[in-house]
Amino acid sequence: MTNDTLDRSSIIELLTVTPADELYRRADEVRREAVGDDVHLRGLIEFSNICRNDCLYCGIRRGNRQVQRYRMTEEELVETAKRAAALGFQTIVLQSGEDLHFDQARMCRIIDQIKRLDVALTLSVGERDYEDYKAFRDAGADRYLIRIETTDRDLYHRLNPGMSWEHRHECLLMIRELGYELGSGIMVGLPGQTVESIADDLLYLKDICIDMAGIGPFIPHPETPLANESGGTLEQALRTMAVMRLLMPDINIPATTAMESLHPQGRIMALQAGANVVMPNVTEGEYRRLYELYPGKICVNDTPAHCRSCIGLKIRSIGRTIGQGRGGHKKR
Ligand code: 5AD
Ligand code: FES
Repeated sequence: MTNDTLDRSSIIELLTVTPADELYRRADEVRREAVGDDVHLRGLIEFSNICRNDCLYCGIRRGNRQVQRYRMTEEELVETAKRAAALGFQTIVLQSGEDLHFDQARMCRIIDQIKRLDVALTLSVGERDYEDYKAFRDAGADRYLIRIETTDRDLYHRLNPGMSWEHRHECLLMIRELGYELGSGIMVGLPGQTVESIADDLLYLKDICIDMAGIGPFIPHPETPLANESGGTLEQALRTMAVMRLLMPDINIPATTAMESLHPQGRIMALQAGANVVMPNVTEGEYRRLYELYPGKICVNDTPAHCRSCIGLKIRSIGRTIGQGRGGHKKR
């Protein structure tokens, strides 16, 4: 059976019984053939940790009163983007909680200013209405990240009170229809999540033709209702990511920060098991530590310049190259 036609039961077998090193080797081979040795870097700016939602797993959920909340000003945000561009990042990712202070007009002004830096721009600001998505796209945003988190509807509704899986799915379809490159993904190791449902997640992501897949372990945050859950393992997350690569050989797959939070070499392991993207944090100062989705987040005391050179060295140390250009999804 060729990779792209893997069915549900072979996916489950790969996720569970195939020896991990064999799976990683296959994913690494498919990655090299389909997208080559380049690793594309994205500069991630976490510009507000204010969120209207109350997702049970998330450290910046509305109900967490322990978080010191922040919101960058437009000027701070654009300055941070300028410095990231000066460090050589050719994609800037703007991520925040669902903070409606950043309304359509404000977001469009920010997008317009950042696009003048001649970079690709990715947004990761959650669920908005069609008019917002359209306005952001018209203002110049190129890509959008919005994880589906899980395709198990019941699990989704338990974990995301007040939210609707169907609505989130509609958002993904709108984003794709508007011509954004669509990034989505899941968490692995959620309480009550089964390997069958992870197989369904992967098939779903393939079915909606995503351009990028972010897959990370769930890491329990002490100030959330899931504090005492066990969370995902690095192996589970790496396996899931590797199977994603087999299913969709030419998409972009980041080595996620959450993987490195579980193991000091987590991102390097991911790059050798199917990943071809890294998203170093370019947020500055105090904000880095305040954007705490999960505990043990890496690099909270480092500077953007430090992380840029650190990750550059790591990538070269495993014989890979830093991608030049914007590194969008090149469909084969
Ligand atoms: N552990 C791991 N990942 C998390 N995210 C949110 N909370 C956690 C957690 N506790 C992920 C979600 C979200 C992305 C921005 O971060 O998948 O979409
Ligand atoms: Fe931040 Fe290595 S990437 S210190």
